[in-house]
Amino acid sequence: MAIELEKEKIVPSDAQMKAPKPLPQEEQKLIEEKTTLEEERLYRRGVVTVSDIIAPASFQVTPNYLLLSGVYVRTIFVITYPRYIGLGWSASIINLNKTFDLAMYFYPVKAGVILKQLQKRVGYLEAGLSMDSEKGKPRDPLRETALRDIEALRDALTQGTEHFFQFAFYLTIYAKSLNELDKLSTDIESEFGSKLIYSKKGFYQAEQGFNSTLPLSNDELMITYNMNTSPIAASFPFISSDLTSDNGILYGINRHNNSLILFDRFSLQNANAVVFATSGAGKSYMVKLEVLRSLMMGVDIIIIDPEMEYKNLCEAVGGTYVSVSLASQAKINPFDLPKPKGEETKVEDIIRSAIITLKGLLRIMIGQPQGGAGVVGFTPEEDSILDRALLEAYAKKDITADTVDLSVVEPPVLSDFIDVLSGMSGSDNLVARLTKFTDGTFSGLLNSPTTVEMSNQLVIFSVRDLEDELRPMSIYTIINYIWNTVRSERKKRILIIDEAWWLMMHEDSAKFIHALVKRCRKYYLGITTITQDVNDFLLSSYGQAIVTNSSMQFLLKQSPASADLIQKTFNLTDGEKYLLLESGVGEGLFFAGQKHVAMKVVASYTEDQLVTTNPQQLLEIEKARKDFEKKLADENAAVTETEKETSPLEEPVPEVKPVESSEAGQAEAERIRQTLTDL
Ligand SMILES: Nc1ncnc2c1ncn2[C@@H]1O[C@H](COP(=O)(O)OP(=O)(O)OP(=O)(O)O)[C@@H](O)[C@H]1O
Ligand SMILES: [Mg+2]
Repeated sequence: MAIELEKEKIVPSDAQMKAPKPLPQEEQKLIEEKTTLEEERLYRRGVVTVSDIIAPASFQVTPNYLLLSGVYVRTIFVITYPRYIGLGWSASIINLNKTFDLAMYFYPVKAGVILKQLQKRVGYLEAGLSMDSEKGKPRDPLRETALRDIEALRDALTQGTEHFFQFAFYLTIYAKSLNELDKLSTDIESEFGSKLIYSKKGFYQAEQGFNSTLPLSNDELMITYNMNTSPIAASFPFISSDLTSDNGILYGINRHNNSLILFDRFSLQNANAVVFATSGAGKSYMVKLEVLRSLMMGVDIIIIDPEMEYKNLCEAVGGTYVSVSLASQAKINPFDLPKPKGEETKVEDIIRSAIITLKGLLRIMIGQPQGGAGVVGFTPEEDSILDRALLEAYAKKDITADTVDLSVVEPPVLSDFIDVLSGMSGSDNLVARLTKFTDGTFSGLLNSPTTVEMSNQLVIFSVRDLEDELRPMSIYTIINYIWNTVRSERKKRILIIDEAWWLMMHEDSAKFIHALVKRCRKYYLGITTITQDVNDFLLSSYGQAIVTNSSMQFLLKQSPASADLIQKTFNLTDGEKYLLLESGVGEGLFFAGQKHVAMKVVASYTEDQLVTTNPQQLLEIEKARKDFEKKLADENAAVTETEKETSPLEEPVPEVKPVESSEAGQAEAERIRQTLTDL
């Protein structure tokens, strides 16, 4: 091309030959620009670009297929749909284990245009019907149905509840041989045919078909079908056969076919879930996403957070964050009783179950090794003393089997119980062991009436600042308190117990959680137990029972040490076991009832900012927040400064408005003038 330019220069016109004038400046500039562009083009020709890398080596277009570097490509398009179309009709195609590209185009059509056409159709159909009736012919159900459908659609379009679209559906399939391509095309056509959807292969438009399914939103086929909103909604393709429901939340992406796992855990037999994975595999991340998304669906959430990692999330959504520690003001009285509403439960039963729970707590607090290895508890004498003392402690506050209304009583606290206990013979040892919780180092925790409120949609209990020794009993008390609240009012709730192995360490707390998991369904509660200590959890009989009673299970990355046990417990194939061993962060298996799929947990940018526990990201977020607060403070200071400067010390003199022509205006002007003179 440079040579051509040269040519242009050396072949001037005759006039120029005679008097070689310098070129005008603009023309000169143009030529210079052209040369630069040419040079650039020459340079680019020698550089490898992305399109060079992804482009096929060859591209042969035949009337009914494309040959793309040895791969046979064909596009199939849908021409008509039946009168009734089921939800997720495209799912069977999406779930085919084949390579394909699918494109859907939706062209909105103005309601006015369609209404005009429909009106014409109505006229035509009605005329036909009335002619039939005049001639005394039998009724024609086909025409009547069409008329009814059109009338319904006209109503919906006019009211704006439906919109009208032209809908195009193209599928490009790939195969290694022509035979395979033909077979696949027939399979797909018959799959569509079984649903009364008629499709055709592109003929003499193979290239246009291929182009239309590239991710370029470039519809070169334009083969559309008129549809209104409802049937179009049924073509939503991201459906994981049975794992997609209308009212669920997004759990992740189905890694088999990239469809979405939209699931409602309350639609299962029970709403419990267990999450197992190694540390850092993304357990808390996934559960936090579930929390955020469930809150939008109006579900109440209660979380037990041992690492204070749910605080950001809590602040962002305006939840209540209760930090339970020796020094904190948030107290929970283990002697609290539930206040059942609208339910016939005998007070006697409530007191009995409270006493059983309290004995469990006392075993964690002051139990001593008994008989068998690892068994912690009391001697039979101690047990009966405690039993009586608990009953009497309640009786002292007038809480007996005869109490009518539990919502007005004031339950005893730990020191009341110790008072009762110390009056009994043979209780010295027990009292001595218990007093550290009322007078000693640990007195701040369990010896006071409840001050915590649970009216918020999201309540988080943090136990990070508790001494390790106090954690199991504190979590036990918190869960008991939550359980009482749950029993008091039936509501859709989720309770999340993060790092649940804390509770599995003690037989009593493990038993307690197990009992909750078994019973919570009746109170519309779903419990999520998260644990990284898979072996400990699964080897305990209570842990096993919790897994059996949880319809939903999430397995993320596993360590080789626990992989075999996991495989046995969840009946995994070898392939699934290796998938878990090799999973990346946030990847794993999702079980819902009998079905399971490989899943990837994904979050939006904003969600990620709220739920991450990555220390570096958290530092950055913290820094950004501080900068923002500083900027805000500076701006506020500047505004107050200017206000100070501009605000006059004396009262401003009222400004005289120009006299208005109306009477009211004149009166006003007069009033102001009067005020000024008075001043
Ligand atoms: N799906 C995901 N996408 C992107 N990042 C993720 C995903 N899941 C987790 N992460 C990141 O991985 C890290 C660990 O996640 P997370 O805190 O959930 O681990 P964990 O399993 O709860 O660990 P631990 O048992 O120690 O509490 C975090 O920094 C988080 O931001
Ligand atoms: Mg975690």
